[in-house]
Amino acid sequence: MADYWQATVTTPVNIAVIKYWGKRSVALNLPTNASLSVTLHQDQLCTTTTAQCSKEFASDRLWLNGKEEVIKPGGRTDTCIQEMKKLRKAYEDKYEDPHPASEWHVHLCSFNNFPTAAGLASSASGYAALVHCLATVYRLPNTSTELSLIARQGSGSACRSLFGGFVAWDMGVNEDGSDSKARQVASEDHWDDINAVICVVSDEKKGTSSTSGMQRTVETSPLIQERIRLVPARMAEMERAIAAQDFDAFAQLTMKDSNNFHAVCLDTSPPIFYMNDVSRALVALVHEFNRVSILQKRGHRAAYTFDAGPNAVIYCLRRNVKDIVNMVMHYFPQAEPFKDTYKVFYGKDTPGQMPL
Ligand code: DP6
Repeated sequence: MADYWQATVTTPVNIAVIKYWGKRSVALNLPTNASLSVTLHQDQLCTTTTAQCSKEFASDRLWLNGKEEVIKPGGRTDTCIQEMKKLRKAYEDKYEDPHPASEWHVHLCSFNNFPTAAGLASSASGYAALVHCLATVYRLPNTSTELSLIARQGSGSACRSLFGGFVAWDMGVNEDGSDSKARQVASEDHWDDINAVICVVSDEKKGTSSTSGMQRTVETSPLIQERIRLVPARMAEMERAIAAQDFDAFAQLTMKDSNNFHAVCLDTSPPIFYMNDVSRALVALVHEFNRVSILQKRGHRAAYTFDAGPNAVIYCLRRNVKDIVNMVMHYFPQAEPFKDTYKVFYGKDTPGQMPL
């Protein structure tokens, strides 16, 4: 019998178009509203994680981008590892198919191919990769939905990275969180000409983490109640727009929801500022681009969205990527005045494209 078991997986980032912001249970990571995201292409922004289980290991350990991180007992990583072990045990009891790896300690090695914690959803791909990787080592034939319940406990947004394409996280109503899980709304093939142009305004670690920021919002913002009220209708409209491949509606909803989320951050006390002057200039630029586009009877052709940081993700159809990248490059040349603080991530094959 092998004296170690190992697996490596790569899991992509997802960028929400209806944002998750607020927890109704901190312990179980249950959200105050449903959310919906687009999973980026695996080759682009992603986390690659290797898990090795061996009877020689004295404890569970984790290296993130080459640096060892402490696994706190009862913390997020530990919770995900313990929950995966429980899942393995339940499987064993049911099918009488034992596997030694789940009895042993695990060493995890994880790399992001993009700046960690700069508002580029590193926790989403990170915890999704961790759960997916352990499921592979443990030879668990689990569905992504089942794994999403565990990834959610690592980081809420992580539950959506276990699916490709367009993914909803249904908030659920059960107190134990058993129905707060991810669901694929449409596969990546359904609307494959959607692209994301990512403008890295800053790759520094964000000032206020999502976890602490959203807690402060829930505790202090009256406006969050209005957001909780309006999200269900927005989710339904967004699902309709995706099903109909209606980019005009998709774009309007995406931008409205990003702005509503950042308004709620501003309504928090003390206020949270994730966007900066460059972010706001990008907002103005996209609106100007769309204004001209609407005059030309082409509808909205670009949609920005900002997570918990200043970086913009601009969704657009493939045929419009070139126009958008040219426009951004024209108004924000990499030289002055945004030297070294502005980048557009390009796709591998075609400059300016970032295929999903
Ligand atoms: C703004 O999933 O990072 O990106 O559950 O506390 O780990 P925790 O929060 P996290 O929050 C993501 C917030 C967001 C919106 C989104 O991705 O839906």
